[in-house]
Amino acid sequence: MTAPLNLALLYGSTREGRFCDTVADWLRTLIDQRRDYTVDAIDPVLLDLPHRHGGAPSADLVNLQQRIWRADAFVLVVPEYNHGYPAALKFVIDSVQAHWQAKPVAFVAYGGMSGGTRAVEQLRQVFSGLHAVPVRNAVHFPQAWDRFDATGQPRDGEDSRRAATRMLDQLAWYGYALRQARAAWPYPGG
Ligand SMILES: Cc1cc2nc3c(=O)[nH]c(=O)nc-3n(C[C@H](O)[C@H](O)[C@H](O)COP(=O)(O)O)c2cc1C
Repeated sequence: MTAPLNLALLYGSTREGRFCDTVADWLRTLIDQRRDYTVDAIDPVLLDLPHRHGGAPSADLVNLQQRIWRADAFVLVVPEYNHGYPAALKFVIDSVQAHWQAKPVAFVAYGGMSGGTRAVEQLRQVFSGLHAVPVRNAVHFPQAWDRFDATGQPRDGEDSRRAATRMLDQLAWYGYALRQARAAWPYPGG
């Protein structure tokens, strides 16, 4: 039997009182019901990362790089900040470099009116630049704080679950295909 994909679930917000946990917890529950993924939740709040690039890497930075290297696929839970995505997330992405390459990335985004669409479109460019493969489908929650009930479930019944399932199916397709391809034929990065 094919081993499950190692899926890194990356938290995109480090803000005090962030909504990110509500969205990430919901997504995590969905992923845990599947057989095609094992999850490594990467929360930058819990990492002691340097404030500047370069210099001696902290133990947590080395650990982060190893976790990204071990991952077969990524899903980002990301809010929109000022028509983009949070700076803290960019710092994490830039701290890792080559280990993203030839791996698929999916997005669950949230925010105000836009539901994080602008954040995601910018991230697609960033990850393309890193030789990663952004997955077509994404999940968006406009006015996110109104979209979840007190138990952390989306109020839209099955719609969000269906959208996330489709996205995770696509992510798995790329995840398995690219894992096989990386093993057979080293990716010509650079
Ligand atoms: C600094 C900042 C800028 C924001 N800019 C936008 C924006 O441009 N578009 C949008 O839809 N929501 C925007 N919002 C709303 C956030 O997406 C929303 O508050 C979300 O819950 C933030 O995620 P977090 O609580 O996990 O940090 C902004 C929020 C903050 C704190």
